[in-house]
Amino acid sequence: MPRLDQLLARNTGWSRRELARAFRRQAVRECDGTPIDNPARSMHELPTTVWLGEHRVELYHRVDVLLHKPVGVVTARRDDRHPHAFELVRHHPLAAELRAIGRLDLDCSGLLLWTNEGSHVHAMTHPRRAVPRRYHVALAGPWRTDIPHVRIDDHDVDTTCIRALSQPHVGLRVPPHCEQLAAITLTSGRFHEVKRIFASLGTQVIGLCRVQHGAWSLPDDLAPGESQRINLDRPSD
Ligand code: URA
Repeated sequence: MPRLDQLLARNTGWSRRELARAFRRQAVRECDGTPIDNPARSMHELPTTVWLGEHRVELYHRVDVLLHKPVGVVTARRDDRHPHAFELVRHHPLAAELRAIGRLDLDCSGLLLWTNEGSHVHAMTHPRRAVPRRYHVALAGPWRTDIPHVRIDDHDVDTTCIRALSQPHVGLRVPPHCEQLAAITLTSGRFHEVKRIFASLGTQVIGLCRVQHGAWSLPDDLAPGESQRINLDRPSD
């Protein structure tokens, strides 16, 4: 169980010395105003609220976020040339601890999960876990259907994971010269994987949107750039 003083430091950015002083002054109080004198108290029920001086502080331990990454934004915490996705989630609690789960290319939009729990990053991205990612794709032309497998790095991709698509997700940008729409489901996250698969099948990806990652789908009503708090431990909530 996390300790109160550690949670206060993570959620406020106050130093341990500043917090020790606040506890001594009885400036850390329950919601009802009762001073809390044990900085090491274990916190069971989270999130919860305490007073720190005149400020009500909401204390979080675990934070997960689902972002609709727009085209033109890099999956990074900072970048010198382009807007970066971290800007779009930095208003969430414990933002300094958030890490993206996997990455999407600059020209790809869609579902990008963030978490402050390292084991989730591993569980949802490690190739051995084979967590499905589904993409909606706009193509410059039809793909070859006579090739059963394509080789991406050291790995054979079975092309039955591709389906023709009639109704793309609203998050997919479909350029006017698009000739074909497809859905593809992959269980690995190799560099430019979708683009390389369709290139091997004789066509070019001109629009790409991730619509699913594991149990999580991109909500239709979540506009590009918007995000929402989720609980990765409870996909059905
Ligand atoms: N495949 C790609 O080519 N790009 C992405 O961003 C994700 C999967």
